[in-house]
Amino acid sequence: MQRRNFLIWVSRALETGLAALVAIPGVQYVWSTLRPETSVSNTRRRIVRWKDLRPGAPMQFSIYGERRDAWHVEPQQVIGRVWLVRQPGSETPEAKGVTAFTSLCPHMGCQVQRSGAEAGFVCPCHRATFGLDGQPQQQGGERNHAPRGLDELPCELVCDAAGDVWVEVEYQRFEPSLTQKVAKA
Ligand code: FES
Repeated sequence: MQRRNFLIWVSRALETGLAALVAIPGVQYVWSTLRPETSVSNTRRRIVRWKDLRPGAPMQFSIYGERRDAWHVEPQQVIGRVWLVRQPGSETPEAKGVTAFTSLCPHMGCQVQRSGAEAGFVCPCHRATFGLDGQPQQQGGERNHAPRGLDELPCELVCDAAGDVWVEVEYQRFEPSLTQKVAKA
């Protein structure tokens, strides 16, 4: 091989290698954004003892699980949050009266917060308000941006061997901005 041809060959090989170095992370990034997080949906968790919830006082809890994308698998990450509401008047576990909502606003997915002195919830992003039952509330003449109520999660009271009653929740995410509750794939 002539020296000139050899140099051309080397420079093309270097160009191809550099292009691959730039392109591969980009392809992996795009793939990671397209790939769904497989471990987030349908995650059942034991959250808190029923007696530790106070009637009419919503409490927020984090849901831990495995977070996975094309690059990493990270165990014990916060994959979501839930609000638990022990409805006023539920004095015994038999009366149940515990409701679980995902903390994600059904408008555009911000985290809803307790609503100050009011009983219920408010979203800090566009001020959507919800009652303790999760339903959107009227707020004077202002428009409530919530397209539906807070997304309720399956919730069950389970008794352990020691006789303690626990609240268990099936965590799931739902599509925002729809009037209907549609689970994310
Ligand atoms: S994201 Fe909650 S009101 Fe807009």
